[in-house]
Amino acid sequence: MRRSRSILRALRGVALGFLVTTAAAAAEPPAGATSCSGCHALSAKVETPVPPIRGRDPAEIVAAMRQFRSGERPSTVMGRIAKGFSDDEIQAIAGWVAVQH
Ligand code: HEC
Repeated sequence: MRRSRSILRALRGVALGFLVTTAAAAAEPPAGATSCSGCHALSAKVETPVPPIRGRDPAEIVAAMRQFRSGERPSTVMGRIAKGFSDDEIQAIAGWVAVQH
């Protein structure tokens, strides 16, 4: 009994931690987020020809991803990439990318 209660407490800690880290700097990237770094450098030490997205306002990233996905914003590759993500996933990725530096 006591054991299961402490497991519950631990789980609650994990859930809270998840919320906190997605809002702030997450150590663990959400699903799909690491795929972005193949083209968009997620560190100031790396330069790429594609526009940097790290440190940008998450709302801006979400808006751009939605526009790429719908085709409203023309793109070479982002339209195809954005189609692979749900709104929730895009939001999680945007929140994480925004705090990379
Ligand atoms: C294969 C390379 C590639 C990958 C992987 C990639 N991008 Fe892009 N991204 C681009 C290119 C190229 C552009 C410029 C628009 C275009 O031509 O598609 C761009 C543009 C963007 C922009 C608009 C930036 C601006 O300032 O206009 C955002 C936001 C963005 N990408 C987010 C993401 C996210 C989030 C991921 C990961 C889920 C990702 N990208 C993965 C190549 C990539």
